[in-house]
Amino acid sequence: MTKQIALFNHKGGVSKTTTTFNLGWMLANKGKTVMLVDCDPQCNLTGMVLGLRGSKYKIGKGFQAIYESEEVQDIYRGLAPAFESRPVLLEPVVCKSVKGQPNMCLLPGHIRFAEYEVPLGMAQELSASIPSLQNLPGSLNYLFMETAKKYKADFILVDMGPSLGAINRNLLMTSDFFLVPMFPDYFSVMAAESLASILIQWAAWSRQGRALPILREATYPFPNKIPKFLGTIVQNYRVRNKKPTAAFQKWINAIELAVKTSLLPVLKKNDMLLPTRLYEKVMFHESSQQPLFSEESLGKPILQMPDFNSLIARSQEHKAPIFELTDAQLEHAGEVLEQTKKSMHQFQKLYSDGVDRIITLVENA
Ligand SMILES: Nc1ncnc2c1ncn2[C@@H]1O[C@H](COP(=O)(O)OP(=O)(O)O)[C@@H](O)[C@H]1O
Ligand SMILES: [Mg+2]
Repeated sequence: MTKQIALFNHKGGVSKTTTTFNLGWMLANKGKTVMLVDCDPQCNLTGMVLGLRGSKYKIGKGFQAIYESEEVQDIYRGLAPAFESRPVLLEPVVCKSVKGQPNMCLLPGHIRFAEYEVPLGMAQELSASIPSLQNLPGSLNYLFMETAKKYKADFILVDMGPSLGAINRNLLMTSDFFLVPMFPDYFSVMAAESLASILIQWAAWSRQGRALPILREATYPFPNKIPKFLGTIVQNYRVRNKKPTAAFQKWINAIELAVKTSLLPVLKKNDMLLPTRLYEKVMFHESSQQPLFSEESLGKPILQMPDFNSLIARSQEHKAPIFELTDAQLEHAGEVLEQTKKSMHQFQKLYSDGVDRIITLVENA
């Protein structure tokens, strides 16, 4: 069965897109078939996979070629029959392959996807009273699942834009699992707190939707899902002696506290947590090997990722993951090359361990 994981934080610039790409690649390295879905109208993920062309670093013809292709190759056109009330069923999207990673494909984004925000919002508020809107709330899930079936995807990773609108509400609440990427700063602490209050509303809305016969019986039924929290991913902090520097550690601790005191109680109340024993199974203290993710320490990030430094620039340039750049792509020699490779291998290990934890949680849920 395909499992859908949303990467969600209404705060922008916290590495949702970067993490979607790198996590997806690592899942694919471990033999999973992965479908990335670019649900941010800014289309950064689509750009990362195929937009840059040649040495001039301009957005190339890639986007236009997708949008003008006769086959449906993007999220906007994939959903159009539902949103334009055309009397035809949604068809799976033709995904783009990802160069260098045969186990991964991309359902491309589209800037006009943002146009569905308003009709979807109306449908999500009013479908009980306006039956013609009943097919919209389940349509995104239907399209993703049909496309995943076509590509035999084990995992769908949903990259989301920074918003609290109707699209993100739908995407999150119709996923099986979710991750919350964060940066260790004051704004992410604020985000953890505001996320908690918005999730109270979203969970209530999803309960209603799941109970409404008109949505359950729609052509694209509203899925009976409750997304489960996999954890936060904290990243882009400085490291000294293999540990976050004191200044960053303070914010990492503050995030953990905000997650623990604000977010987790809401998730628990709304059945959005996995059984505690599962978190305990994957979260253990590196040195003591003692479980970390007990009731007291729930809230620890499932993945901590330091600042990528120059690797992020190379990764974007070559559309390759942080942890798989070749010597030629790194463009260094001698000692600098060796140091860069060492740091790349550290990122590889972090992603690999993080993905193992995610697989364990998902497969035992
Ligand atoms: N661990 C990291 N170290 C350094 N830079 C990072 C890291 N993760 C992401 N970035 C950079 O931070 C910026 C925001 O990341 P992005 O993935 O676009 O975030 P989002 O999708 O949440 O808006 C990008 O420029 C990206 O290259
Ligand atoms: Mg993004």
